[in-house]
Amino acid sequence: MVLRDEFHRAVEHLARASYLTVLTGAGVSKESGIPTFREAQTGLWAQYDPQELATPDAFRRNPDLVWAWYMARWNRVAGAQPNPGHRALVDLEKLVPMVTIVTQNVDGLHIRAGSRYVVELHGRLGRFKCFDNCQGDPTLIDLEKIPYGRERAPNCPYCDGKVRPDVVWFGEILPASVLQGTISAISQCDVALVVGTSGIVQPAASLPAEAKRRGATVIDVNPAPDELVAIADIYLPGPSGEVLPALVEQLKNRVGRG
Ligand code: OAD
Repeated sequence: MVLRDEFHRAVEHLARASYLTVLTGAGVSKESGIPTFREAQTGLWAQYDPQELATPDAFRRNPDLVWAWYMARWNRVAGAQPNPGHRALVDLEKLVPMVTIVTQNVDGLHIRAGSRYVVELHGRLGRFKCFDNCQGDPTLIDLEKIPYGRERAPNCPYCDGKVRPDVVWFGEILPASVLQGTISAISQCDVALVVGTSGIVQPAASLPAEAKRRGATVIDVNPAPDELVAIADIYLPGPSGEVLPALVEQLKNRVGRG
């Protein structure tokens, strides 16, 4: 009963929203077969040490190890498909005047699903740059134009340094354009829909609270109560591949009724 009330409240807020910002994390891609980071046993950081794989120092120490790990992740993502959760977020664009997605995910699945406005906070697997950004920040490198393999980090065609994945690692700051797009989406939204993130990694973790401080309603979708439940106005427990399509269906009915 409580749950049905919460669901109903979420639909009402979405029906009245003119600007929706959706903040997503690894959970939204789990039903596409892509592992999250912090879940016990299956999470990537339960199996691998991020200090060995996801920092600039790790790459300096062992570029080939880091390269091979990211190539394997890219390979997995390339074979995955957007799931009903991603597709429901695309459908929301027909029901709310403005929808921006701010994602921590590097899998590109929101864009492949068809979402139009996507800010990728942590970069993208399958995009590459010179480790030293020798031609300016970022010095993007098209892998199709240089010799490369899956085991060894290739050399930059400009400076002969190393090529790295264009993702944000621990200890790195987000690109200015990405921060700008995020601030704009957070400051304009009247509803912030948070989906599938543990709410631990900054600066993404503080975005829901910032949206709330500016007057937005925060709705949290997650099968497990995460850090963000404490500040969420509405918590909808469940996997996003089920909760988001159900929200869209109800919203369609509600908007149809006027
Ligand atoms: P986490 O692994 O920290 O959290 C994933 C969240 O998804 C958890 O709260 C789960 O309960 C939830 N979840 C699991 N299955 C779900 C489902 N079917 N539907 C919805 N939610 C589900 O991943 P993130 O919060 O995204 O950064 O992690 C943030 C950042 O930490 C990542 O971007 C990455 C990582 O280190 C970098 O690599 C820089």
